[in-house]
Amino acid sequence: MKLEVDQSRLAQELETLGGISEAPSPVTTRVVFTEADLRGRAFVKQLCREAGLVVREDPVGNAFARWVGTEPDLPAVGTGSHIDAIPNAGRYDGTVGVLGGLEAIRALQRSGFRPRRSIELLTFTSEEPTRFGIGCLGSRLLGGLLNPSVGEQLKDKNGTSLDDARTHAGFIGPLSDVRLPEDYYSAFVELHIEQGPILEARQFPIGVVTAIAAPASLRISIEGEGGHAGAVLMPDRRDAFLAAAEIALAVESAARSTGAEDTVATVGVCDVFPGAVNSIPSRVRIELDVRDIDQSRRDGVLRKIAETCDEVATRRRVTLRIQPLNADPPAHCAPAVVNVLSEACETHGFGFMYMISRAYHDSLFLSRIVPTAMLFIPCRSGFSHRPDEYASPEAIGHGTLVLAEALARLSGQDVIVNHA
Ligand code: GLV
Ligand code: MN
Ligand code: MN
Repeated sequence: MKLEVDQSRLAQELETLGGISEAPSPVTTRVVFTEADLRGRAFVKQLCREAGLVVREDPVGNAFARWVGTEPDLPAVGTGSHIDAIPNAGRYDGTVGVLGGLEAIRALQRSGFRPRRSIELLTFTSEEPTRFGIGCLGSRLLGGLLNPSVGEQLKDKNGTSLDDARTHAGFIGPLSDVRLPEDYYSAFVELHIEQGPILEARQFPIGVVTAIAAPASLRISIEGEGGHAGAVLMPDRRDAFLAAAEIALAVESAARSTGAEDTVATVGVCDVFPGAVNSIPSRVRIELDVRDIDQSRRDGVLRKIAETCDEVATRRRVTLRIQPLNADPPAHCAPAVVNVLSEACETHGFGFMYMISRAYHDSLFLSRIVPTAMLFIPCRSGFSHRPDEYASPEAIGHGTLVLAEALARLSGQDVIVNHA
């Protein structure tokens, strides 16, 4: 039978999942282990069970839904992504890889295909860093790239630890049990919206990702001196926010100074204490994100930022603490899996381009233990991490079809040659 994706069912499921949110439509906000996240997970698990998949969860809440192959002892083929969403997000980031992965499996089932290797859909916990400060919690733990005892102690801004939050959400057992054996998967493929404008502008339906940029983030806590906004004269002030403002501008110029378009940096969090218009800020916490496909260039930007911090702290007489949150290397996708994805595009007549991912993904960490690659589909104007993020049912359907073809090929293969 023909391999066919049910675009309208998939669009409907994405719509339903998008509506499971802490904020009213069209905004999707689904922060890890909130009630909305748990409802979203329940929706996905129910669909997986209806498709006959065997569902299990690990102690951090990564969910695995397995279509058991005819040789169930062979390493499986993995696909999937995340369903958590940052505040004020859209409906497609991550969810396309989860529900698209499920529809790829259902399309294969409908076509009469029987996988040799099991095919497993993974929904990763907390790809987004919103709650615990670092992204890709689930995939870091799966890959053995986050020390479980460090993970347990991560805290959200209310002081709730990851351990308490996951237990409260019903995920129990030691975090050290999350790590996957290296031969658990033979290959992993993640389908995702591009989150940038290139595919749409160049009119390619598919991007085959060959590398993922190296992300790093820092938290900078600044302490100055508060006081009355009317009474304290300007020369006497030690305003923590003004120090933060100078640092934020220095972050921009450090990124621009490399001259490379692949270097990007963002200050996305700025908490000002006490946050009153007539009070000089005494404490400020900023969080910033620096990325580049070239790790040494990114590290050069981080060094420049640290130098500026020292200089600003001295000149403005504030104290300042820099806390690195993460500094990960880039990932290079496995050529064998990239080839399978390219062939799958060709089989279905889709033009594609090779590209790098400037956003990070759980694949960044899976790639450290499994031959991994990614498929991108276009999204409108490249918008992402905002409520008007949009990918058309057709675009999602094309990506899902290529994914299904690739999963079929990978689940029949004897060996995947890892490039690493
Ligand atoms: C993932 O959401 C990222 O920030 O790249
Ligand atoms: Mn995201
Ligand atoms: Mn994502």
